[in-house]
Amino acid sequence: MRVFHRLGDLRQYRQGVARVAFVPTMGSLHEGHLALTRAARKYADTVIASVFVNRLQFGPGEDFERYPRTLQEDGEKLAKAGVDALFAPDEAELYPEPQTCFVEPPDLQHLLEGEFRPGHFRGVATVVLKLFNCVQPQTALFGKKDYQQWMLIRLMTQQLALPIEIVGMDTVRAPDGLALSSRNAYLSPAERAEAPRLYQTLRALKEAVSREGWARSAALQQEARQSLEHHGWKTDYLVVCRQSDLQAPSDAAQSLVIVAAARLGATRLIDNLEIE
Ligand code: PAJ
Repeated sequence: MRVFHRLGDLRQYRQGVARVAFVPTMGSLHEGHLALTRAARKYADTVIASVFVNRLQFGPGEDFERYPRTLQEDGEKLAKAGVDALFAPDEAELYPEPQTCFVEPPDLQHLLEGEFRPGHFRGVATVVLKLFNCVQPQTALFGKKDYQQWMLIRLMTQQLALPIEIVGMDTVRAPDGLALSSRNAYLSPAERAEAPRLYQTLRALKEAVSREGWARSAALQQEARQSLEHHGWKTDYLVVCRQSDLQAPSDAAQSLVIVAAARLGATRLIDNLEIE
């Protein structure tokens, strides 16, 4: 696997290959990331991954400083997974001057995650566009675990006419159901044992909504939230909404998704579950 820390070197390599499938990450890689890189192989002969912890998408008081940085191990995992090239710029390489141009995503950026992490999706959209311009992929793969991020990247790509196909991949989970996440490393053993309750709660809510109908979803989501909090969670949001725009459902024909963010001790976990 080739490793590039400099944009100039990446660009030179890029000129020598035809089609590229791209998986952007912030590193501290787990099976969820690696599943994206393996799926990427179906879309192009050359698979490029990136590792960059993007300061722009962290708010003041969030975990930018302590976000796990494990570049050596990440490189080994990517090489083993068959990735052709890794782009791992440092901050001075990707942001050689203060970033004053931003991608301003649509209003969807202010809902849900955006309400609790103001400016987050602006930082995500800006770095993803910048990485797209560095790597120039024909296809880019994202996890639906970050459901709102995946939606906003699709909107950006469509509305800014980027010549890139965006592929969404299902969430990879631990055997007990917990969605894999780099932030799981923050959990104490007792918290790790409690953590699968988030997904269990989403599954129970999905069953209840399927059984009792969308019109009951507001009441049912409230009960689900209370049961989480009863076990010591602090819920930022836990809502049933439309897949199309993450707004409250208004009729039976709509495809729904349950999206949630909740804190266990100092660790904030997110998850979601589609209801077809
Ligand atoms: P990061 O959290 O490292 O995730 C990188 C990619 O892996 C994202 O598309 C994310 O949705 C996907 N992913 C994470 N956990 C997953 C799981 N359990 N199953 C499937 N896919 C999973 O998301 C980011 O980084 C950043 O915001 C980024 C897009 C790289 C921009 O900085």
